[in-house]
Amino acid sequence: MRTTRRKNRLFWIQIAIISLGLLIAKTNFSLSSPQNLSPVSLFSRDFSQFETVQMSKGPRDTIRDLRLTTRSKLISGDFIGPYKIKSLLGFGAWGKIYSAIDTRTKAEVAVKILENRESVHDEQKFLQEAKILTHLEHPNIVTFYELHQGNKIYYSMEEIKGKDLEKKLFDNLGPLPYELILSIGIQTARALEYLHEQGVTHRDIKPGNLILEEITERVVLIDFSIGLINGEGPSPNDEVAGTPNYMSPEQANSIEEDYRVDIYSLGSTLYHLSTGRPAYRERTILGLLTKLSSKEKHDSRKSVFLVNTELPYTFNEFIKKAMAFDPEERYQTATEMREALEDLLLSYNRTRHTPPGGFNFTKPKLSEVRAQKSIATAI
Ligand SMILES: Nc1ncnc2c1ncn2[C@@H]1O[C@H](COP(=O)(O)OP(=O)(O)OP(=O)(O)O)[C@@H](O)[C@H]1O
Ligand SMILES: [Mg+2]
Repeated sequence: MRTTRRKNRLFWIQIAIISLGLLIAKTNFSLSSPQNLSPVSLFSRDFSQFETVQMSKGPRDTIRDLRLTTRSKLISGDFIGPYKIKSLLGFGAWGKIYSAIDTRTKAEVAVKILENRESVHDEQKFLQEAKILTHLEHPNIVTFYELHQGNKIYYSMEEIKGKDLEKKLFDNLGPLPYELILSIGIQTARALEYLHEQGVTHRDIKPGNLILEEITERVVLIDFSIGLINGEGPSPNDEVAGTPNYMSPEQANSIEEDYRVDIYSLGSTLYHLSTGRPAYRERTILGLLTKLSSKEKHDSRKSVFLVNTELPYTFNEFIKKAMAFDPEERYQTATEMREALEDLLLSYNRTRHTPPGGFNFTKPKLSEVRAQKSIATAI
């Protein structure tokens, strides 16, 4: 009798363990789906499926760490082609990026591996990213090295020693210093000037795609996975491309877009860096896209000046223009945007070096003050 009871208990414990296992597997599966990833890079225009998708509030790494458990992870000492893996640098919607050594040259490199091949388009987009990067050479854009196509698709590039601005924002727990924000803006605008001249639109300018190099404070733009060359790319027409928190209204509404989407997204990135919070704080992707759907809803966002009262009013005006709903009302070129940022830096430096009491202030002699006073009393 006692053994039957023990067997029964054992049976139920086994059932409980199996159910728990199934539950964990299901959770991991849904987290590994790119639609649940935040920031999202690409998704279909059928918004109904996003109604329940929550935007991540914390660092994206919490979500991404869970994803790591469901995908193969290379560890230090593993090889991929000629590259010997050192450590994981980051991961996103497409796969993982590792720090590695090129065994042929002993050079340190970063290797981006395509892992999440959900459709043939993903492969095409990854190849398009490599194709775009091959043609670029600019100090504020990551340098491309080599594409490898075989069983696995991956490419190598310059490894930037530093932190992406999304991680920097998280570490900082608030706005970055104003002077650094302006420098980041100027350097990114320089990268955009060059890109647009080459006919390339990045379409995903955001803190996570800008790395701030340690010591030098050089800003380096990465991740051209949804970039277009002369308006052409492999994205299917029914897809919305971009990251909802930073994307332009044209991208959100899938209407005709041009390189001015990058001007908007840089404005939105600087909004986040200067206030410590994104321009729109919605809990769902659908909520965010709704904000971008009409001028009235779009313009209801809080101005940077109200969120961070230490910012100069001129910066507030700058963000307003960079993030205008209508592309015609924005800075029309990255050069115009860079010049506006340089003016802001100039006036910041001027006020910073202003002696107490203002410019051209020469202290009056005591005798002069006394003379003034006696005139005043005589009158
Ligand atoms: N060359 C590099 N040097 C150093 N770190 C890098 C480099 N490339 C990428 N990273 C790190 O890996 C992260 C993800 O890289 P990347 O943005 O290219 O991936 P992704 O899959 O396209 O991401 P997502 O689509 O989510 O934006 C970056 O935010 C950065 O932290
Ligand atoms: Mg990215």
